[in-house]
Amino acid sequence: MQILKTSHLDILAITLIEEQCFPIHNRLSLFDIRDLYDRTLLWKGWSSSVATKHDKVIAFYFLQIKCNICRIYDIAVDPECRNKGIASKLLENIIFAGKKSNINIFSLEVNEYNVQAIKLYEKFGFKQIKIIPNYYSDSNGIKMRKICPLV
Ligand SMILES: CC(C)(COP(=O)(O)OP(=O)(O)OC[C@H]1O[C@@H](n2cnc3c(N)ncnc32)[C@H](O)[C@@H]1OP(=O)(O)O)[C@@H](O)C(=O)NCCC(=O)NCCS
Repeated sequence: MQILKTSHLDILAITLIEEQCFPIHNRLSLFDIRDLYDRTLLWKGWSSSVATKHDKVIAFYFLQIKCNICRIYDIAVDPECRNKGIASKLLENIIFAGKKSNINIFSLEVNEYNVQAIKLYEKFGFKQIKIIPNYYSDSNGIKMRKICPLV
C-alpha cells in the first residue's frame, strides 16, 4: 500500500468510496469533493492523501490545519479493504506529519452511531469531548479530540 498526495485524477475514486461509506443524506457529493480538493490546492492548511493498492484508490482523507489544530474533515476506506489497518496507517501518517509541524491538537466530528470510527479514534487516543446536537441530518455528532505533548 502507498500513501500519496491526492491528485485530481483521484476525485472520482474518492467519490465512489464516499458513496459506499455514507448514506445519501450524510455524504459528500462529487461537487463537494472537488471543492475540498480545490481547497488543498488553493487554501493554506488544507491537505489530502489517498491510500492506493495496485494503483487503485482504497482510502482517503481530507484535513485542515489552523493554528496548532489539525481538523480531520473526512476519512474513509473502501468497504472491501476494511479491518486491515488502512485507516490506522492514514491516522498514523496524519499524526506523525502533524507533530513534525508542531500541531498538538487533532480534532474531528463523528456520527454518534458510527461505532467502528469511534473505536478507531479512541484507539488513537482521541477523547469524546462533546455532543453536537443534530450535526448530521438524522443524528447527533460527537466532537473528539486528541492532545499530544509538544516535542
Ligand atoms: C472507520 C473506518 C475508517 C475504519 O477503517 P479500517 O481501515 O477498517 O480501520 P483499521 O483496520 O485501521 O481498524 C483500526 C481500529 O478501528 C476499530 N474498528 C475498525 N473496524 C471496526 C469494527 N467493524 N467494529 C469495531 N471496531 C472497529 C478498531 O478499534 C480497530 O482496531 P483493532 O483492529 O485493533 O480492533 C472504516 O470503517 C470506514 O471507512 N468507515 C466508513 C467511513 C467512516 O465512517 N469514516 C469516519 C468518519 S468520522
